[in-house]
Amino acid sequence: MLVRVAATKDVAIGQMRFVDVAGAKVSLADADGHVFAFDNICTHQGCSLAGGELQGTTVTCPCHGSQFDVASGAVLRGPALRPVRCRSVQIQGEDVLVEA
Ligand code: FES
Repeated sequence: MLVRVAATKDVAIGQMRFVDVAGAKVSLADADGHVFAFDNICTHQGCSLAGGELQGTTVTCPCHGSQFDVASGAVLRGPALRPVRCRSVQIQGEDVLVEA
């Protein structure tokens, strides 16, 4: 099921924002014009990834510096060991829809 979470105008290139997807905390990131969605909680010790830094498709956790690929969820740098869950994103007109 896809859930509308934002308008396309609310997701700026190179920026992240936190949204609620059916009760789950999810980050939206516009990396180079593509919108990605991934669970907001860092798999290391639970910090908010939306509060981190986005460079290209890499998000850096603000707490201990773990890095994740926002397209796949893969860990690029520890201390985190487990990937974050990524969710499907669809753009329909001016709406951003994310897999619940
Ligand atoms: S909580 Fe994210 S790196 Fe530690």
